[in-house]
Amino acid sequence: MPVDFEHAPVMLQEVLETFETIGGGLLVDATVGGAGHSLALLEQQVDRQILGIDRDETAVMVARERLEKYSNRAKVVHATFDQIGALVDDSQQPLAGAIFDLGVSSYQLDTAGRGFSHRFDAPLDMRMNSKQDLNADIVVNTYEEKELRWLLRRNADEKHSSRIAAGIVNARPVRTTRELADVVRDSVPAAVRRLGRHPAMRTFQAIRIEVNDELSLIEPAIRSVIERLQTGGRIAVLSYHSGEDRIVKHLLREAADGLCHCPSSLPCVCGAGPTVRLLKRKVRRPTESEIAHNPRATSARFRSAERLPAGEL
Ligand SMILES: C[S@@+](CC[C@H](N)C(=O)[O-])C[C@H]1O[C@@H](n2cnc3c(N)ncnc32)[C@H](O)[C@@H]1O
Repeated sequence: MPVDFEHAPVMLQEVLETFETIGGGLLVDATVGGAGHSLALLEQQVDRQILGIDRDETAVMVARERLEKYSNRAKVVHATFDQIGALVDDSQQPLAGAIFDLGVSSYQLDTAGRGFSHRFDAPLDMRMNSKQDLNADIVVNTYEEKELRWLLRRNADEKHSSRIAAGIVNARPVRTTRELADVVRDSVPAAVRRLGRHPAMRTFQAIRIEVNDELSLIEPAIRSVIERLQTGGRIAVLSYHSGEDRIVKHLLREAADGLCHCPSSLPCVCGAGPTVRLLKRKVRRPTESEIAHNPRATSARFRSAERLPAGEL
Protein backbone atom coordinates (compact mmCIF):
# COMPACT_ATOMS: atom_id res chain seq x y z
CA MET A 1 0.00 0.00 0.00
CA PRO A 2 1.58 3.34 -0.97
CA VAL A 3 2.04 5.66 1.99
CA ASP A 4 1.32 9.36 1.62
CA PHE A 5 4.44 10.46 3.50
CA GLU A 6 4.73 14.23 3.16
CA HIS A 7 7.51 15.97 5.02
CA ALA A 8 9.39 18.98 3.68
CA PRO A 9 13.00 18.85 4.98
CA VAL A 10 13.59 21.75 7.37
CA MET A 11 16.52 24.20 6.96
CA LEU A 12 17.78 22.10 4.05
CA GLN A 13 20.05 24.86 2.78
CA GLU A 14 21.79 25.17 6.14
CA VAL A 15 22.13 21.38 6.37
CA LEU A 16 23.66 21.15 2.90
CA GLU A 17 26.07 24.02 3.61
CA THR A 18 27.22 22.25 6.77
CA PHE A 19 28.14 19.05 4.97
CA GLU A 20 29.31 20.60 1.68
CA THR A 21 32.96 20.78 2.62
CA ILE A 22 33.38 17.38 4.26
CA GLY A 23 33.35 15.46 1.01
CA GLY A 24 32.27 11.81 0.83
CA GLY A 25 32.31 9.00 3.38
CA LEU A 26 29.74 7.75 5.85
CA LEU A 27 27.06 10.16 6.99
CA VAL A 28 24.43 9.00 9.48
CA ASP A 29 20.92 10.39 9.18
CA ALA A 30 19.79 9.55 12.70
CA THR A 31 16.15 10.50 12.02
CA VAL A 32 15.71 9.58 8.38
CA GLY A 33 11.88 10.02 8.32
CA GLY A 34 10.75 10.63 4.73
CA ALA A 35 14.42 10.81 3.63
CA GLY A 36 14.19 14.44 2.51
CA HIS A 37 17.54 15.42 4.03
CA SER A 38 19.11 12.08 3.07
CA LEU A 39 18.15 12.37 -0.59
CA ALA A 40 19.61 15.86 -0.88
CA LEU A 41 22.77 14.80 0.95
CA LEU A 42 23.25 11.82 -1.40
CA GLU A 43 22.74 14.09 -4.39
CA GLN A 44 25.23 16.61 -3.01
CA GLN A 45 28.17 14.18 -2.97
CA VAL A 46 28.59 11.18 -5.26
CA ASP A 47 30.96 9.32 -2.95
CA ARG A 48 28.82 9.77 0.17
CA GLN A 49 27.11 6.85 1.90
CA ILE A 50 24.07 7.30 4.11
CA LEU A 51 23.12 5.16 7.05
CA GLY A 52 19.55 6.14 7.89
CA ILE A 53 17.93 5.33 11.22
CA ASP A 54 14.31 5.63 12.28
CA ARG A 55 12.29 4.11 15.11
CA ASP A 56 9.08 4.28 13.07
CA GLU A 57 8.52 1.20 10.87
CA THR A 58 6.53 3.18 8.29
CA ALA A 59 9.27 5.80 8.02
CA VAL A 60 11.83 3.03 7.48
CA MET A 61 9.71 1.53 4.69
CA VAL A 62 9.17 4.91 3.01
CA ALA A 63 12.82 5.93 3.34
CA ARG A 64 13.96 2.63 1.77
CA GLU A 65 11.62 3.22 -1.17
CA ARG A 66 12.70 6.84 -1.64
CA LEU A 67 16.38 5.98 -1.49
CA GLU A 68 16.04 2.97 -3.76
CA LYS A 69 17.90 4.53 -6.66
CA TYR A 70 20.84 5.05 -4.31
CA SER A 71 20.61 1.55 -2.81
CA ASN A 72 24.36 1.02 -3.38
CA ARG A 73 25.06 4.04 -1.17
CA ALA A 74 22.13 4.12 1.26
CA LYS A 75 21.01 1.75 3.98
CA VAL A 76 18.06 2.31 6.33
CA VAL A 77 17.65 0.50 9.64
CA HIS A 78 14.84 0.32 12.17
CA ALA A 79 16.39 1.42 15.45
CA THR A 80 16.47 4.22 17.98
CA PHE A 81 19.32 6.64 17.51
CA ASP A 82 20.93 5.88 20.86
CA GLN A 83 22.18 2.71 19.08
CA ILE A 84 24.16 4.87 16.67
CA GLY A 85 27.55 3.93 18.17
CA ALA A 86 27.08 0.20 17.61
CA LEU A 87 25.68 0.77 14.12
CA VAL A 88 28.64 2.94 13.07
CA ASP A 89 31.12 0.48 14.61
CA ASP A 90 29.47 -2.40 12.70
CA SER A 91 29.86 -0.50 9.43
CA GLN A 92 33.64 -0.42 9.99
CA GLN A 93 33.86 2.94 8.26
CA PRO A 94 35.12 6.24 9.62
CA LEU A 95 32.27 8.60 10.46
CA ALA A 96 32.26 11.74 8.30
CA GLY A 97 29.05 13.27 9.60
CA ALA A 98 25.72 12.91 11.33
CA ILE A 99 22.45 14.77 11.18
CA PHE A 100 19.64 14.70 13.72
CA ASP A 101 16.26 16.20 12.80
CA LEU A 102 14.55 15.64 16.12
CA GLY A 103 10.92 15.16 17.00
CA VAL A 104 7.96 14.15 14.96
CA SER A 105 7.43 14.10 11.18
CA SER A 106 4.57 15.80 9.36
CA TYR A 107 3.52 12.32 8.25
CA GLN A 108 3.18 11.16 11.86
CA LEU A 109 1.26 14.32 12.82
CA ASP A 110 -1.02 14.11 9.81
CA THR A 111 -1.92 10.42 10.10
CA ALA A 112 -5.17 10.61 12.03
CA GLY A 113 -5.14 7.09 13.48
CA ARG A 114 -1.78 7.49 15.20
CA GLY A 115 -3.17 9.89 17.75
CA PHE A 116 -0.38 12.50 17.55
CA SER A 117 -2.62 15.46 16.79
CA HIS A 118 -5.55 17.26 18.40
CA ARG A 119 -6.84 17.94 14.86
CA PHE A 120 -8.23 14.42 14.39
CA ASP A 121 -10.28 12.14 16.59
CA ALA A 122 -8.40 8.93 17.35
CA PRO A 123 -7.46 6.66 20.25
CA LEU A 124 -4.67 8.10 22.42
CA ASP A 125 -1.59 6.40 21.00
CA MET A 126 1.37 8.66 19.94
CA ARG A 127 3.89 5.79 19.73
CA MET A 128 6.55 6.26 17.04
CA ASN A 129 7.32 2.56 17.39
CA SER A 130 4.05 0.62 17.51
CA LYS A 131 5.78 -2.33 19.19
CA GLN A 132 6.49 -0.52 22.45
CA ASP A 133 4.07 -0.82 25.38
CA LEU A 134 3.80 2.74 26.70
CA ASN A 135 1.25 4.82 24.84
CA ALA A 136 -0.55 8.12 25.42
CA ASP A 137 -3.60 6.40 26.94
CA ILE A 138 -1.42 4.98 29.73
CA VAL A 139 0.24 8.36 30.38
CA VAL A 140 -3.05 10.28 30.40
CA ASN A 141 -5.02 7.78 32.46
CA THR A 142 -2.50 6.39 34.96
CA TYR A 143 0.18 9.01 35.70
CA GLU A 144 -0.17 10.88 38.98
CA GLU A 145 -1.26 14.50 38.76
CA LYS A 146 2.16 15.74 39.87
CA GLU A 147 3.90 13.65 37.17
CA LEU A 148 1.60 15.11 34.52
CA ARG A 149 2.27 18.62 35.82
CA TRP A 150 6.01 18.03 35.69
CA LEU A 151 6.07 16.61 32.17
CA LEU A 152 3.88 19.43 30.85
CA ARG A 153 6.45 21.89 32.17
CA ARG A 154 9.59 19.99 31.19
CA ASN A 155 8.49 18.87 27.74
CA ALA A 156 6.49 21.87 26.61
CA ASP A 157 7.05 24.85 28.96
CA GLU A 158 3.29 24.75 29.57
CA LYS A 159 2.35 27.72 31.80
CA HIS A 160 -0.99 26.21 32.80
CA SER A 161 0.41 22.81 33.73
CA SER A 162 -1.34 22.70 37.14
CA ARG A 163 -4.79 23.42 35.76
CA ILE A 164 -4.36 21.02 32.84
CA ALA A 165 -2.98 18.19 34.99
CA ALA A 166 -5.89 18.60 37.44
CA GLY A 167 -8.36 18.78 34.54
CA ILE A 168 -7.05 15.52 33.06
CA VAL A 169 -7.16 13.67 36.36
CA ASN A 170 -10.75 14.84 37.03
CA ALA A 171 -11.93 13.87 33.55
CA ARG A 172 -10.57 10.29 33.59
CA PRO A 173 -11.00 8.08 31.72
CA VAL A 174 -9.90 10.16 28.71
CA ARG A 175 -9.76 7.83 25.72
CA THR A 176 -9.44 9.88 22.53
CA THR A 177 -7.46 12.79 21.15
CA ARG A 178 -10.65 14.84 20.85
CA GLU A 179 -11.56 14.18 24.50
CA LEU A 180 -8.04 15.20 25.58
CA ALA A 181 -8.13 18.36 23.45
CA ASP A 182 -11.53 19.30 24.99
CA VAL A 183 -10.30 18.67 28.55
CA VAL A 184 -7.30 20.93 27.97
CA ARG A 185 -9.40 23.66 26.35
CA ASP A 186 -11.81 23.57 29.30
CA SER A 187 -8.94 23.69 31.82
CA VAL A 188 -7.04 26.76 30.61
CA PRO A 189 -8.08 30.37 31.32
CA ALA A 190 -10.61 31.82 28.84
CA ALA A 191 -8.05 34.32 27.51
CA VAL A 192 -5.78 31.45 26.38
CA ARG A 193 -8.67 29.89 24.44
CA ARG A 194 -8.90 33.06 22.38
CA LEU A 195 -5.24 32.94 21.24
CA GLY A 196 -4.48 31.67 17.74
CA ARG A 197 -2.99 28.27 18.59
CA HIS A 198 -5.08 25.42 19.93
CA PRO A 199 -4.54 25.41 23.72
CA ALA A 200 -3.89 21.63 23.64
CA MET A 201 -0.85 21.81 21.30
CA ARG A 202 1.69 21.93 24.11
CA THR A 203 -0.06 19.17 26.05
CA PHE A 204 0.07 16.88 23.00
CA GLN A 205 3.75 17.67 22.54
CA ALA A 206 4.53 16.99 26.19
CA ILE A 207 2.72 13.64 26.20
CA ARG A 208 4.28 12.57 22.89
CA ILE A 209 7.78 13.31 24.24
CA GLU A 210 7.03 11.25 27.35
CA VAL A 211 5.56 8.32 25.39
CA ASN A 212 8.61 8.12 23.14
CA ASP A 213 11.14 8.99 25.84
CA GLU A 214 12.49 11.51 23.34
CA LEU A 215 14.74 13.62 25.55
CA SER A 216 16.76 10.93 27.28
CA LEU A 217 17.94 9.37 24.00
CA ILE A 218 19.52 12.58 22.70
CA GLU A 219 22.53 12.74 25.02
CA PRO A 220 23.91 9.20 24.49
CA ALA A 221 23.42 9.56 20.74
CA ILE A 222 25.24 12.90 20.43
CA ARG A 223 28.07 11.74 22.69
CA SER A 224 28.51 8.58 20.58
CA VAL A 225 28.70 10.67 17.41
CA ILE A 226 31.25 13.14 18.79
CA GLU A 227 33.42 10.24 19.99
CA ARG A 228 33.38 8.60 16.57
CA LEU A 229 33.57 11.56 14.16
CA GLN A 230 36.75 11.63 12.10
CA THR A 231 38.82 14.81 12.16
CA GLY A 232 36.90 17.50 10.27
CA GLY A 233 33.71 15.41 10.48
CA ARG A 234 30.54 17.35 11.26
CA ILE A 235 27.39 17.02 13.32
CA ALA A 236 24.20 18.99 12.69
CA VAL A 237 21.15 18.98 14.94
CA LEU A 238 17.69 20.41 14.34
CA SER A 239 15.51 20.66 17.41
CA TYR A 240 12.01 22.03 17.79
CA HIS A 241 11.52 23.16 21.37
CA SER A 242 13.55 24.58 24.20
CA GLY A 243 13.82 21.29 26.14
CA GLU A 244 15.52 19.56 23.19
CA ASP A 245 17.65 22.56 22.29
CA ARG A 246 18.91 22.95 25.88
CA ILE A 247 20.32 19.41 25.77
CA VAL A 248 21.93 19.89 22.35
CA LYS A 249 23.41 23.28 23.25
CA HIS A 250 24.84 21.97 26.50
CA LEU A 251 26.42 18.89 24.87
CA LEU A 252 28.00 20.79 21.97
CA ARG A 253 29.26 23.62 24.21
CA GLU A 254 30.68 21.10 26.67
CA ALA A 255 32.54 19.34 23.84
CA ALA A 256 33.74 22.69 22.48
CA ASP A 257 34.88 23.95 25.89
CA GLY A 258 36.48 20.63 26.79
CA LEU A 259 35.57 21.02 30.45
CA CYS A 260 39.03 22.45 30.99
CA HIS A 261 39.40 24.17 34.34
CA CYS A 262 42.83 25.66 33.72
CA PRO A 263 43.09 29.48 33.72
CA SER A 264 42.16 30.72 30.26
CA SER A 265 45.40 32.74 30.06
CA LEU A 266 47.52 29.53 30.29
CA PRO A 267 47.80 26.40 28.12
CA CYS A 268 45.69 23.49 29.36
CA VAL A 269 47.59 21.18 31.72
CA CYS A 270 44.63 19.23 33.14
CA GLY A 271 44.37 16.88 30.16
CA ALA A 272 40.86 17.98 29.26
CA GLY A 273 40.39 19.74 25.99
CA PRO A 274 37.90 20.62 23.33
CA THR A 275 36.88 17.83 20.96
CA VAL A 276 34.84 20.00 18.58
CA ARG A 277 34.55 23.57 17.39
CA LEU A 278 31.13 25.12 17.03
CA LEU A 279 30.47 26.13 13.43
CA LYS A 280 28.31 29.00 14.70
CA ARG A 281 28.30 30.13 18.32
CA LYS A 282 24.63 31.13 18.19
CA VAL A 283 21.67 28.99 17.33
CA ARG A 284 20.39 29.42 13.74
CA ARG A 285 16.73 29.82 12.91
CA PRO A 286 14.81 29.34 9.65
CA THR A 287 14.30 32.34 7.38
CA GLU A 288 10.94 34.12 7.20
CA SER A 289 10.54 32.82 3.67
CA GLU A 290 11.08 29.19 4.72
CA ILE A 291 8.52 29.60 7.50
CA ALA A 292 6.04 31.09 5.02
CA HIS A 293 6.46 28.03 2.75
CA ASN A 294 6.69 25.46 5.54
CA PRO A 295 5.05 26.57 8.81
CA ARG A 296 6.35 23.41 10.53
CA ALA A 297 9.83 24.96 10.34
CA THR A 298 8.70 27.80 12.63
CA SER A 299 10.19 26.50 15.85
CA ALA A 300 13.34 24.93 14.32
CA ARG A 301 16.71 25.59 15.94
CA PHE A 302 19.88 24.51 14.16
CA ARG A 303 23.26 23.82 15.77
CA SER A 304 26.39 22.31 14.26
CA ALA A 305 29.97 21.47 15.16
CA GLU A 306 33.15 20.05 13.62
CA ARG A 307 35.47 17.44 15.12
CA LEU A 308 38.92 18.74 15.95
CA PRO A 309 42.11 16.81 15.16
CA ALA A 310 43.19 14.62 18.07
CA GLY A 311 46.66 16.23 18.12
CA GLU A 312 45.18 19.66 18.85
CA LEU A 313 43.17 18.56 21.89
C1 LIG B 1 11.35 15.44 11.87
S1 LIG B 1 11.27 13.79 11.29
C2 LIG B 1 12.64 13.63 10.20
C3 LIG B 1 12.34 14.04 8.81
C4 LIG B 1 13.49 13.85 7.84
N1 LIG B 1 14.65 14.64 8.18
C5 LIG B 1 13.07 14.17 6.40
O1 LIG B 1 13.69 15.04 5.78
O2 LIG B 1 12.13 13.54 5.91
C6 LIG B 1 11.84 12.92 12.69
C7 LIG B 1 11.91 11.41 12.50
O3 LIG B 1 12.74 10.93 13.55
C8 LIG B 1 12.21 9.74 14.06
N2 LIG B 1 12.71 9.64 15.43
C9 LIG B 1 12.38 10.41 16.48
N3 LIG B 1 13.08 10.04 17.56
C10 LIG B 1 13.89 9.02 17.17
C11 LIG B 1 14.86 8.22 17.84
N4 LIG B 1 15.12 8.39 19.13
N5 LIG B 1 15.50 7.28 17.12
C12 LIG B 1 15.24 7.10 15.80
N6 LIG B 1 14.31 7.82 15.13
C13 LIG B 1 13.65 8.77 15.80
C14 LIG B 1 10.72 9.89 13.93
O4 LIG B 1 10.09 8.64 13.86
C15 LIG B 1 10.58 10.69 12.63
O5 LIG B 1 10.39 9.84 11.53
